[in-house]
Amino acid sequence: MHIITARVPEGVECLDEIHVIGGKCLHGNITVQGSKNTVLPLMSGALLYRGISVLKACPRITDVFYMEEILRALGAETWWEDHDLYLDCTHADGSHVPEIYSGRMRSSIILLGPILARNQRAEIGYPGGCVIGKRPVDLHLYVLRCFGAEIKEEEKKITVSCKKLCGTEIVFSKRSVGATEQAILCAALSKGTTTLRNCAREPEIVWLCRFLNAMGAKIEGAGEDCICIEGTEKLCGTKMQIPADRIVTGTYLCAAAAARGRIVIENAPEGELDAFLQVYRKMGGQYEWNSGKLIADGSQVRFSLPFLETEVYPGFPTDLQSPLLAVLATVPGKSIIKENIFENRFKVCNELCKMGADIRVDGNTAVVCGGRLHGNCVYAEELRGGAALLVAALAAEGSSVIRGCSFIRRGYEDIGGDLKKLGGLITEDIGTVFYENIQL
Ligand code: EPZ
Repeated sequence: MHIITARVPEGVECLDEIHVIGGKCLHGNITVQGSKNTVLPLMSGALLYRGISVLKACPRITDVFYMEEILRALGAETWWEDHDLYLDCTHADGSHVPEIYSGRMRSSIILLGPILARNQRAEIGYPGGCVIGKRPVDLHLYVLRCFGAEIKEEEKKITVSCKKLCGTEIVFSKRSVGATEQAILCAALSKGTTTLRNCAREPEIVWLCRFLNAMGAKIEGAGEDCICIEGTEKLCGTKMQIPADRIVTGTYLCAAAAARGRIVIENAPEGELDAFLQVYRKMGGQYEWNSGKLIADGSQVRFSLPFLETEVYPGFPTDLQSPLLAVLATVPGKSIIKENIFENRFKVCNELCKMGADIRVDGNTAVVCGGRLHGNCVYAEELRGGAALLVAALAAEGSSVIRGCSFIRRGYEDIGGDLKKLGGLITEDIGTVFYENIQL
């Protein structure tokens, strides 16, 4: 099984780009990929069992391939059968996650708990920040200390050691998805009981707890403020179907809204998008659920949003802020969006303005005055901003080229192909990207 990753040598222009001719309504049915932010913590959880776990309907995206490389570097065997990912962690006794891996994917930090539970020691290169924010890991380290771990922080790496993780009480100072996942992963095999308060309540927390409980863990309160975990001696293998990605679903609804079309999402994750759908309706979008399908009509989208702020779940998700900005750039009137989760999540505005958007950013607030967009050559610098550029290009007059699509492929398995299925005029050019074969 070969996984190839793109590596563009210094100075070589990466032509990984998507071409769009805008102005055409989207129409049709689509099935959404598995959830990136669900599958990544489950891949870490698989380390808690010295055997085979299976993640079904797994998205074939770069971040999953990155996490797969790390697990193999730790000694796991992994293989795919279509979209089912098999993880055999029988011999995954490595304890070092090199900086080359942790630097390019910050969610590798949630491997610390399971590595520590297996080997009493873990070492990870410092997970860098990224364009959307500083992305500190202080809450993760606080969690590990609460379970009894000793931590040594050096310039380039963090070393953690602990003979046996012990159950504890943690009250999170702020809601953090990753830190909540870290604590749950530590608690599953800890000695004694763990109580977590002020937990993140995202669906990804619920799916992680379902997965671990299916492995024999004893977790109660998933998705609520307080989660209680009774540590167990050992866990067993399990299979889990990865749910549809709620952020990809929201992105496609934004695409339909920007292109004033009507789409049907065959497998939308009902109950995980309520805050977004309320906003969709406020803009004039219409939708209905019909036997598990989400029928969304963006043809009447025409109202701006006087004020909207991103919040922790169940509030409006920060990951849909950029795609929504792209829609608001096409809606007459003034909209105001406040970003409360990450410090720098308006970077895409510069590129949207190259397409004619009128967006003024002041600190963590963006003011959008909607109007007509025109095509241009623009650059994706991060995952959701890149998706937003595609959404804008579908609405823009004329043609656009979105470059840097490797960022988009980190979380979207085939956004170009999906939008093409919905009638978008899209062509992709992987270009002369250099690949290095990594034997997997
Ligand atoms: C997860 O990131 C998601 N990533 C993010 O999705 C998502 O935007 C974010 O949750 C919020 O919903 C994955 O699940 C892989 P946090 P995470 O810890 O866990 C601060 C995408 O586009 N914080 O909930 O890193 C942090 O800086 C990605 O798919 C600390 O201060 O997010 C942020 O301001 C982007 N110290 C806030 O908490 C810490 O130790 C929320 O972050 C950790 C976080």
